[in-house]
Amino acid sequence: MNKVILLKNRPQGRPSLKDFEFIVEEIPQPKEGEILLKAKYVSVDPYLRGRMRDEKSYIAPFEVAKPLESGIIAEVMESNNTNFKKGDFVNGMLKWKQFQTSNGTGLNKVDNKNAPLKAYLGILGLTGMTAYLGLKKIGKLENGETLLVSAAAGAVGSIAGQIGKIKGCRVVGIAGSEEKIDRIQEKFGFDAGINYKTAKDMKKAISEACPDGVDVYFDNVGGPILDAALANMNEYGRVINCGAISLYNQTEIQTGPRVEPLLIKNRILMQGFIVRDFVKDFGPAQKQLAQWMEEDKLTYLETVVEGFDNIPQAFIDLFEGKNKGKMIVVV
Ligand SMILES: NC(=O)c1ccc[n+]([C@@H]2O[C@H](COP(=O)([O-])OP(=O)(O)OC[C@H]3O[C@@H](n4cnc5c(N)ncnc54)[C@H](OP(=O)(O)O)[C@@H]3O)[C@@H](O)[C@H]2O)c1
Repeated sequence: MNKVILLKNRPQGRPSLKDFEFIVEEIPQPKEGEILLKAKYVSVDPYLRGRMRDEKSYIAPFEVAKPLESGIIAEVMESNNTNFKKGDFVNGMLKWKQFQTSNGTGLNKVDNKNAPLKAYLGILGLTGMTAYLGLKKIGKLENGETLLVSAAAGAVGSIAGQIGKIKGCRVVGIAGSEEKIDRIQEKFGFDAGINYKTAKDMKKAISEACPDGVDVYFDNVGGPILDAALANMNEYGRVINCGAISLYNQTEIQTGPRVEPLLIKNRILMQGFIVRDFVKDFGPAQKQLAQWMEEDKLTYLETVVEGFDNIPQAFIDLFEGKNKGKMIVVV
């Protein structure tokens, strides 16, 4: 028996379980040159919501009635491909199927010699790459600057904040609960935090938490929090538009304040960032992150949900902030 999760409908607003469908297929047989894979760890990520819309983007939309996919670590169960042997683990963009075949294209072998396998979906995977390369390529963060991070208790945000501390910056995080605000300071070393759900005036709250202004804003959420951050940017500040989770479930396009005068006056750089544009930098980035982990300068949290059947719910829970760090499903 091979369970498969399909996109049943394109969600309207916040996704619900009704937007997903489970079917059962036969376990496929690997042909010559192929391997049979069994999913072990499945990454659920906010950007998958964008792929559920029928819109042109940097990555193709999911098709209705077809399996969803995300970053998955899978075990090789059978191999007709000389590059892989039974018992190897691979990491790649794979379908939400318990079992699937592959010719190996786009798969990287991983092992647990230096870090747990799951870490390659988080801190040593696209999550870590996003935090590190976003700050390096667009943020160009320098010692002594002030870094503001939103979704700061999440997977990318918690790593971005720690990198800011390693670089000798004042780091302020924005998150959605008091518990998260405590955690980013106690566990991840942020200097201060702002609970955006209780702050009455975000612009004022940011200015109080960042008395010298903001030099780099690592934006994971967009919307009114971005507006408030922009109003606090210093001259030559850099805004990394990494994510806009506050907008992903909106059915109508919102408009915010006109920002042109602010950007011009303060010569602010605001740039969209897609981590996959920097694939050639992944090797050195992963090496640096691993080294900081070994030196106890960098740590991470995971929310691990059990069971293949719970993949859709784990994905939905990202929009409720139910995750602590990287959300992963263990199959
Ligand atoms: N550009 C790229 O290449 C790239 C790569 C990876 C990720 N991303 C983006 O980076 C962001 C973070 O991704 P992640 O994987 O690290 O997820 P995550 O931060 O671990 O999880 C999402 C978090 O977003 C917060 N959130 C949910 N709805 C919100 C809202 N309406 N307003 C403000 N915050 C909200 C929640 O925390 P609270 O409890 O604090 O609300 C939740 O825990 C996402 O926007 C994602 O799309 C971009």
